[in-house]
Amino acid sequence: KILILDFGSQVTQLIARRVREAHVYCELHPYDMPLEAIKAFNPKGIILSGGPNSVYGSEYHADPALFELGVPVLGICYGMQFMAHHLGGAVEAGNQREFGYARVQTADSDLTRGLFDGEAGGLDVWMSHGDKVSKLPEGFAITGKTDSCPVAIMERADKRWYGIQFHPEVTHTKQGRALLNRFVLDICAAQPSWTMPNYIDEAVAKIREQVGGEQVVLGLSGGVDSSVAAALIHRAIGDQLTCVFVDHGLLRLNEGKKVMEMFARNLGVNVVHIDAADDFMSKLAGVSDPEQKRKIIGAEFVAVFQREAAKLHNAKWLAQGTIYPDVIESAGAKTNKAHAIKSHHNVGGLPETLNLKLLEPLRDLFKDEVRELGVALGLPREMVYRHPFPGPGLGVRILGEVKREYADLLRRADDIFIEELRRSTDDNGTSWYDLTSQAFAVFLPVKSVGVMGDGRTYDYVVALRAVVTSDFMTAHWAELPYALLGRVSNRIINEVRGINRVVYDVSGKPPATIEWE
Ligand code: XMP
Repeated sequence: KILILDFGSQVTQLIARRVREAHVYCELHPYDMPLEAIKAFNPKGIILSGGPNSVYGSEYHADPALFELGVPVLGICYGMQFMAHHLGGAVEAGNQREFGYARVQTADSDLTRGLFDGEAGGLDVWMSHGDKVSKLPEGFAITGKTDSCPVAIMERADKRWYGIQFHPEVTHTKQGRALLNRFVLDICAAQPSWTMPNYIDEAVAKIREQVGGEQVVLGLSGGVDSSVAAALIHRAIGDQLTCVFVDHGLLRLNEGKKVMEMFARNLGVNVVHIDAADDFMSKLAGVSDPEQKRKIIGAEFVAVFQREAAKLHNAKWLAQGTIYPDVIESAGAKTNKAHAIKSHHNVGGLPETLNLKLLEPLRDLFKDEVRELGVALGLPREMVYRHPFPGPGLGVRILGEVKREYADLLRRADDIFIEELRRSTDDNGTSWYDLTSQAFAVFLPVKSVGVMGDGRTYDYVVALRAVVTSDFMTAHWAELPYALLGRVSNRIINEVRGINRVVYDVSGKPPATIEWE
């Protein structure tokens, strides 16, 4: 396995993704991981990530004793500067940032071996840095440079220390994947044994060992993570798992029915379906502030779940669909101080008062690995590749006060939109649902005038929102074909009595957010 030390770059997670794609297990830890912990981890190699800081005058230093562990080390961007700094070289503050595409002239070297297919000369890379290495540490050779960056690659092959100024983890660096593979598979000789079937066997064995003969309860939301967790745990312990599915009345059309069909009927999982719409609606009556709505829905969800879980007398474990990015986010808060714009409550973020032990079998997996696992466990592709759906559901897609009447209208409009997105494809045959990262309808409780047949209408407005994003932190509005938008609009206005106007949201994030509340 490979250890990645995170100095806070925006793209550190991508390094881990690339390593895992080479079927090598890796973990990401904060840059200041204690030496003892590094030794205990026993890595076959260490990768030092990029980061936004400067090596001089910052406290962002890893324990330099890691260079003496005898394992290969690859420093990327800031990681290389840190390496140079600690091994006796020098780093100079750049007065100019180099950002974007660059061509690195390189020779065949230990690190780049096999990359060129005989076509010696260059790598097309993606750069993002201000500082640069100005003096090599002892024993190092320069094996790559650009016009503005004299040390783009530096190596000390006898120690197996390598530094690269560009980012191999982003796809803009064409041979980036090959370069990381060269480091991980050849230089570190890490075993490519991280595959889904292996993972399932291991995970199943581990769950059985952890849980023994005890009972497990899981909050099923219908989302990807909790669904895959349920399928995996069910594979391991069968009827010892009971899922509680809390329907707050703010789910998509027929969601409850679909979840019950898939889990209870098809997979044979024990699922308790709680229809709590009345409770939620009465708690939300008269409330129009978005944050307050979120808090009410979150608190009520926990209350209902707790009540139901308490009825399962023997439950000793609470299972959750926590995935690796959630783990990294809470652990790495030191280097990444993300600003809380909205209070994102996760359905499943349940209290300690339940007195249950936590079972989190997806803690090591990235989102696309979770999806792969879901497919391997026999969940339908359509469910595993679903767009994300927020915990508070339609509660944050009905602007202002939530009413059952609004939710019913919105559900139907939303379903038409999604159906049409699934049905229409681009020139390559990919559906617009798959081409967008998230799409939904939003209910605007304002009325506008329309004309239908011979009559005047005075009805509500629905906004369509579709975005393309890789991380949901920033997003572009999706450039859906006009014909598709036209079809959706026609169908909603004709089929959903009570809505007579459909608009399309063309705001990016930032400055807008993806959800309207
Ligand atoms: P925003 O609106 O902040 O959304 O751009 C980014 C992503 O987060 C989802 N989201 C939520 N998820 N509880 C959740 O579980 C919430 O309260 C919540 N608010 C937004 C949103 O759907 C998008 O994918």
